[in-house]
Amino acid sequence: MSFSRKGIIDLKLYVPGRSIDEVKRQYGIDDVVKLASNENPLGASPKAVQAIIDTAANVNMYPDPISMRLCEKLAKKLNVEPSQIMVSNGMDNVLLLIAEAFVNEGDEVLTCAPSFDTYRISTVIMGGTFKTVPLKAHKFDLEALADAITEKTKLIFLCNPNNPTGTIVTKDEVERFMARIPEHVIVMFDEAYYEFVDNPEYAQGMRYVHENRNVIVGRTFSKLYGLAGTRVGYAIAPHHIMNILKRTLAPFPVNLLGQAAALAALDDTEFVERALRVNREGKQYLLTEFKKLGFDSADANGNFIWTDTHTDGRFLEQELLKRGVIIRAGYLWGFDTFMRVSIGTMEQCERLISALKEIFRVTQGRAQRA
Ligand SMILES: Cc1ncc(COP(=O)(O)O)c(C=O)c1O
Repeated sequence: MSFSRKGIIDLKLYVPGRSIDEVKRQYGIDDVVKLASNENPLGASPKAVQAIIDTAANVNMYPDPISMRLCEKLAKKLNVEPSQIMVSNGMDNVLLLIAEAFVNEGDEVLTCAPSFDTYRISTVIMGGTFKTVPLKAHKFDLEALADAITEKTKLIFLCNPNNPTGTIVTKDEVERFMARIPEHVIVMFDEAYYEFVDNPEYAQGMRYVHENRNVIVGRTFSKLYGLAGTRVGYAIAPHHIMNILKRTLAPFPVNLLGQAAALAALDDTEFVERALRVNREGKQYLLTEFKKLGFDSADANGNFIWTDTHTDGRFLEQELLKRGVIIRAGYLWGFDTFMRVSIGTMEQCERLISALKEIFRVTQGRAQRA
C-alpha cells in the first residue's frame, strides 16, 4: 500500500545546485565562485539589508498576512490596484498556488522544454497532466504551443526570458499567440528576469493584465534586488483571476523581514542601476570570451548565459568544480554539451574564463601527448 497521493511518489526530486560550502569542503578550496543559481553577485540591496536589521527585533510579531504595504507600493509602480497583487513566499510558491487554484485532476498544463522545473512539479502535485513542446532555436515556440492547446488545456506557463536558455519572445509573437488563446485557458507569464531585458521588442505580460485577459504575471525580488534568501515573489492578475488565486494563500506567507526588505529594495535605485550595469558588462565579456573559446551562446536576456561548449558537460562541470567554480550543467535538461552560467562580477567572470582556458589547455596537452 502506498500512502502517497496519486502521482506524488513518481515526482522526481528537484535537484538544487551545489552550495559554496559543499564545494569548499569536498575540494578543499577556500575561494569558491557560484555561478549556478542566477543570484545577484553584488549581494543584496544595502537598503534592504538595513531594513532587515531595523526590523529584526520585531520578529516576535506575526507579519502583515497580505503584505499590504508592499502590494500598495507595487500597485503604484505597475499602475494596477493593490488588490490585483498577491505576494507570497518566493515565486516558486506563487507557481504552486497558481496550480492549486486552477489545475483540476486531468487538466492539461502546457509549456516548452527545457524551461523552469517548478511548472512540472506544481502541475503533477495537483494531478494535472504536464505536456511540453520543444523550444525552437532555444526559444519558446509559441506557434507550436498554441497548436498543442486542446479542450483539456487549463494553463500555459510562458517563461520570458526563459530559464535556462535566456531567450525572449517578442511583442508581435506574443500578440499572435494571445489571439489564439481560447477562453478556457490561462496564460502565466513568468517574468523572473524581466528587469534585465534591454531589447525594446520584449513582450511584458502586464499589457494583458490591463486588458483583463485570462493571464497572470509572476515576478520576484530574488534576482535584481538580491533577495533570494528572503523568498519574496508576487503575482499580478486581473480581478477575476486574482479573486480565485488569493484563496490559496497561506495565512502568513511572507515573513516580517522579507516584507521589510522588499519594501526598502524598491527604493534602492542606486543598487538596481549598479546591478544592471554589472550584468550588462559581465554579459558582454562572457559572450565575447565564450565565442573565442568556440562556444555557441543563445541570445542572453537575463542574468545568465546558455552556451554550447561542444564538450562533455559532466567533465567540464567536474573540472570547474576542482577549480572552485560552480556552474549549472546542461545535462540536467538533456543538453549534454551545454552549460548555464550566471553572470557574476567581472572578477568572477574572469575567474570562470581563466579556469576554462586552463581546462582546455590541459586537455589539449593531453590529447597531443596521447
Ligand atoms: C524562471 C523562474 N521563475 C521563478 C523562479 C523562482 O523565483 P523565486 O526565487 O522568487 O522563488 C526562478 C528562480 O530561479 C526562475 O528562474
